[in-house]
Amino acid sequence: MTLPTVQETRALHEKYAPTREALDLVYTHCEIICRIAEQLMARTVLQLDTALVRAGALLHDIGVYRLYDHAGRLDHSNYIRHGVLGHEILRQEGFPERLRRFCSCHTGVGLTRHDIREQRLDLPVADYLAVTAEEQLVMYADKFHSKTTPPKFLTASFYTAYLQRFGSAKVRTFHRLQVQFGEPDLTAIRDEFGHRQA
Ligand SMILES: [Fe+2]
Repeated sequence: MTLPTVQETRALHEKYAPTREALDLVYTHCEIICRIAEQLMARTVLQLDTALVRAGALLHDIGVYRLYDHAGRLDHSNYIRHGVLGHEILRQEGFPERLRRFCSCHTGVGLTRHDIREQRLDLPVADYLAVTAEEQLVMYADKFHSKTTPPKFLTASFYTAYLQRFGSAKVRTFHRLQVQFGEPDLTAIRDEFGHRQA
């Protein structure tokens, strides 16, 4: 499988970003998640496909661009759909399912068909779960930075507190990921990108 290079992922972001502001927000976030995933990969004993992790991290949020309106405003009410929208973009671009799944399977700590029915989410009823260690790593790394205004870094305890509203099973899943991959040291990445920490 041919994976896109860093330059090609950047070109894809430029192709789909409706504005310079959207590009800065989403691409910078993806770069940060890639950096966090690289740091965690350097520590893990798991044998991971590093090129797949990088490409997956750099493209996981490409679907967010489809949620901007003509005035450059992000439709937060449909944000839950950004994963499947990204999956669709990468399908149209000819990328294989193995890469497309980084888009559709990174929301929260994974969405099940039960979650979709129970929370009445506007998504085709299916399981959207990170299955491979590469998918799990990118999904986990994504929990440590948020595209809020202004963007911010999150700690594991902050994310755990947020997750509690979705039930104890989600908190346990996040805890298992913490044990599996460890907690990232965000200090250097935070200083480099200049975003604050919640
Ligand atoms: Fe993300």
